[in-house]
Amino acid sequence: MVHISPSLLSADFAVLGEQLDQVKQAGADLLHLDVMDGSFVPNITFGMPVIQSLRKISDLFFDVHIMIQRPLDYLEPLQKAGADGITFHYEAEGEVETTIRRIHQLGLKAGLALRPGTPGQVVFPFLKDLDLVLVMTVEPGFGGQAFRPEMLEKIALVRAEAVRQGREDLVVQVDGGINPETIALCAKAGADCFVAGSAVFGQADFAQAIAGLRAAAQGAQ
Ligand code: DX5
Ligand code: ZN
Repeated sequence: MVHISPSLLSADFAVLGEQLDQVKQAGADLLHLDVMDGSFVPNITFGMPVIQSLRKISDLFFDVHIMIQRPLDYLEPLQKAGADGITFHYEAEGEVETTIRRIHQLGLKAGLALRPGTPGQVVFPFLKDLDLVLVMTVEPGFGGQAFRPEMLEKIALVRAEAVRQGREDLVVQVDGGINPETIALCAKAGADCFVAGSAVFGQADFAQAIAGLRAAAQGAQ
């Protein structure tokens, strides 16, 4: 199953509500929301007030990717704002087990993200508890960067270990530089959930963009 999660970071923030409606009509399966704190990554995006406002007008699954230094401090506020899933970084502060448990206690799906320099093996002990692993295919912080093909091996490694542990249901997500060419490579390597910012919100026709990405991923799986 292929899931496309358009990243709001590339949307027009002056008309966010309309863009959300349009992307849903266009066939988005989830909505990817990048929350950055200016410390874990050298950029600042948006936080709880924006998510809370969007929650009122959308029933899309809010796939919240937090690039923040202290995830534990923000889980409950994000849940209250309307997150459906929270993906935090392995490289951030706090015990991974504790953070996963806390996300689940809040009734949300839990994901663990890896920067390009972090080896895939670090997620192995947590696969039994996770809903999703996010293999970053660019250095987190900014949209519109070039895909790193050396991440394909990591995607395959995580997928193979998940299957070995009986977790065929684990979602393997990729984020950064995804377009109709790179999505096929990632799907072939074992990813099944694809974040795309510029390849969706940067295009004139969202429906055509999402359909093109989906077809490329399905053709490669
Ligand atoms: C980058 C963010 C991404 C970003 C992807 O740190 O995590 O979600 O929006 O943008 P594209 O698809 O344009 O590379
Ligand atoms: Zn992201």
